[in-house]
Amino acid sequence: MVVPYKHEPFTDFSIEENRRALESAIKQVEAELGKTYPLIIGGERIMTDDKIEVVNPADKKEVIGYVAKANQDLAEKAHRIADETFSWWRKTKASFRADILFRAAAIVRRRKHEFTAHLVKEGGKPWKEADADTAEAIDFMEFYARQMLDIDKGVEINSRPIENNRFHYIPLGVGVVISPWNFLFAIMCGTTTAAMVSGNTVLLKPASSTPIIAYKMMEVLEEAGLPAGVINYIPGSGKEVGDYLVDHPRTRFISFTGSREVGTRIFERAAKVHEGQKWLKRTIIEMGGKDTIIVDEDSDLELAADSITYSAFGFSGQKCSACSRVVAHEAVYDELLERVVQKTKNEVSHGNPADNRSYMGPVIDQGAYDKILSYIEIGKKEGKLMAGGKGDDSKGWFIEPTVFADLDPESTIMQEEIFGPVLGFMKASSFDEALEIANNTEYGLTGAVITNNRQHIEKAREDFHVGNLYFNRGCTAAIVGYHPFGGFNMSGTDSKAGGPDYLYHHMQGKTTSEML
Ligand code: SER
Repeated sequence: MVVPYKHEPFTDFSIEENRRALESAIKQVEAELGKTYPLIIGGERIMTDDKIEVVNPADKKEVIGYVAKANQDLAEKAHRIADETFSWWRKTKASFRADILFRAAAIVRRRKHEFTAHLVKEGGKPWKEADADTAEAIDFMEFYARQMLDIDKGVEINSRPIENNRFHYIPLGVGVVISPWNFLFAIMCGTTTAAMVSGNTVLLKPASSTPIIAYKMMEVLEEAGLPAGVINYIPGSGKEVGDYLVDHPRTRFISFTGSREVGTRIFERAAKVHEGQKWLKRTIIEMGGKDTIIVDEDSDLELAADSITYSAFGFSGQKCSACSRVVAHEAVYDELLERVVQKTKNEVSHGNPADNRSYMGPVIDQGAYDKILSYIEIGKKEGKLMAGGKGDDSKGWFIEPTVFADLDPESTIMQEEIFGPVLGFMKASSFDEALEIANNTEYGLTGAVITNNRQHIEKAREDFHVGNLYFNRGCTAAIVGYHPFGGFNMSGTDSKAGGPDYLYHHMQGKTTSEML
């Protein structure tokens, strides 16, 4: 019997002891900067000449490390090994696989601050955000291990006097996991371990800007007893290695989290049946959002302003769940806007996350920096700039928290995902109109409604078309096991990470019927 699941508590850094612990963990990480990390294929460490240079987004000159870069030959080797390993891994007991995750979660929990410190450096995450990322990685392992044990109990189906029927789930095969840089630990760990604990073997291609944390997770899983070849660590370029693995006829499923552009590309490529392929590939694809907080006429405006500010600027808005749109009832629009602008100017500082003095850190890289600033330029034409609007990439990729007012719901910056600290305000004259505006994007990931009106809560519950809808709170920070996470429409396949049926996406049902 395992203890019931409970999410990992966050660390309170106002406590001196916790603050000291993270400070010393950051020093320890700093002492280890610049190391070289190999690929891991079938348990073998393989170094390549070609390397990915990983830098601290808050300080471009600080190299976190150099990571070996797979090419197609190495990807093929990894695929062959994953395929061979699947032939016996698929028959292992669920409890054997789950126990690896329970042990791995315990190892990460014991060394929590070390991982968090690493996320501060590799991901440019403020302490609080990095701590939550580590906690979520632990949660995913604990949650999916339990879910696998439940699935293993089987599902009751009917038998008849002359036949004995059974139904159970079996794994799919070799899965390609392509993970994002924003929840560099949590989502990478969750998507990889879900595939593994369901009995599949995995080719893990972490985001090229944050591959080191994935190497560290591999070490933890190995320490916890993961056999060689079950998860193969192969960072590399999307075009060279990603496409190759997605197209491979022996790939059985692809689990991707990232941009809409790459997600739709993977979806299209996965649909093609290649020569020698004898299945239709399964895809689990989680993409972006254009997430809206509606603020109603009758609502707590201070709660609204706090929820909006945190949801928009936590981790510099680099969450698919981040609030990038506010629709406020015209009766409260001006006051709400004023409160959010004041909070943004007075409370949302930005700077190097390592010293824990700033609310926001940098954005991830030069590409993101340039793209976000180009959207800010568009925003200046489409709306009224109320706060921020500038960037500084002299040391790291820093962008001011930016607020625009009086936007048209159809404007570019209210339709396209920016993935940065940019927030826009729109006005509605009724709750129905607010819902219409909230639903007018191609996405459908998260949303929130701040209101005291119970009828409006019920209306939104039915008509606000998003995978994760929150009332009287912000629209980020879903917790594994409490808020199954995933979106509708162009936000993805709504596979609900941390939800009760997540592992089933990695499995297939088999019926056996024996005549008696
Ligand atoms: N789960 C995260 C959140 O809710 C996003 O991936 O913010």
